[in-house]
Amino acid sequence: MPKLKCMECKKEHPEEVRYTCDCGGLLEVKYNFEKIDFDLNEARKQPIGVWRYKALLPAKKNVSLQEGGTPLYECKTLSKELNIKLYVKNEGANPTGSFKDRGMTVGVSKAIEFGSKVAACASTGNTSASLAAYSARAGLTCVVLIPGGKIAYGKLAQALIHGARVVAISGSFDDAMAMVQEMCDKYKIYLLNSINPYRLEGQKTLGYEIYDQLNHVPERIILPVGNAGNISAIWKGLTEFQNLGIINKLPVMCGIQAEGSKPLTDLFKKNLPELIPEKHPETIATAIRIGNPVSWKKAIKAICNSEGLAESVTDDEILSAQKLLSRKEGIFVEPASAASIAGLLKLIDNGEIDSGEEIVCVTTGHGLKDPNTVIDSCKDELIEIKNSGELYEIISSL
Ligand code: F0G
Repeated sequence: MPKLKCMECKKEHPEEVRYTCDCGGLLEVKYNFEKIDFDLNEARKQPIGVWRYKALLPAKKNVSLQEGGTPLYECKTLSKELNIKLYVKNEGANPTGSFKDRGMTVGVSKAIEFGSKVAACASTGNTSASLAAYSARAGLTCVVLIPGGKIAYGKLAQALIHGARVVAISGSFDDAMAMVQEMCDKYKIYLLNSINPYRLEGQKTLGYEIYDQLNHVPERIILPVGNAGNISAIWKGLTEFQNLGIINKLPVMCGIQAEGSKPLTDLFKKNLPELIPEKHPETIATAIRIGNPVSWKKAIKAICNSEGLAESVTDDEILSAQKLLSRKEGIFVEPASAASIAGLLKLIDNGEIDSGEEIVCVTTGHGLKDPNTVIDSCKDELIEIKNSGELYEIISSL
């Protein structure tokens, strides 16, 4: 049975409903790899996806919507233009359209093991959409707290249609996060934010899969950072593969934040000893509009141990990267996900990335999650006509 180990005081706890150590430190699921029989070639006889790696997961598959196994696209056009070798790992292809499903299949399976009847989270949108869907499938009651008026419509629609109790608070995601933690403590509700170490176990399969699909480790992985769980989880997955002797090198991890919500980037660039929360986070990429990332300590460890970095990009850079990826490669992602591409372009401009480097950009959520932002950024491109004469004029000018 895997244990929960505190990142700070190293104390070990048995499997139980617990999110932090008594000392307040974040917990990580630890396995005794000597006792685990995992052979990737054997595992490959199972369909690709989260549960292919079940020997390395802390739960039985109690609930699933066939998550993971998302495409790793080779981006030939952008690779040529940018003089690198670019892949996009498109997590928008998950059942509810984001990488959160990897965590929820494991986290909600664990909730069932623990006998929980109610699950909850705070969310900028995708976590709530995912938890609502997995709770519906598992027969759990689901409560989600969202920052009122600040989540994309597609995500709100998902949470509502799956029957979650959707509570919009007048405050930020960080306020909702503090509120939901207190509520879960008080009413013994199972918390499924990424502070839950079991949820991150599902998300670590994103790291496994990148290797599984490429057959080698890329030089660099770039992804958006909000609450900082995903970068930590991918890193954990890859270091586990290293401990198991499956891989012998690790990629450079690059976390990208939006300019208006960049506490982790400030921490990294200014070499601060502690994270200074951004009190008024703001960005068009509402998924990562987070000022006080819960998992910052895990994330900074992943960045530093991989000799990686944190960088920020502006909303304009995010929107133009979203168009670029859609138009050059046919991959439509939500603004937060486009931050990884915007970050890639900035790192190339800064001379951080060498020509020919092999890079995987993780795109975390589907473009249809947030149609309003797209309609707004493309509004001048809509052509309205009154007759076929006008249509032919347009066609002959193509
Ligand atoms: N990309 C998307 C599309 C997200 O929804 C999130 C987080 C992230 C990136 C950042 O991942 O938090 O692990 O660093 N969304 C959360 C939510 C916070 O509530 O849906 P992270």
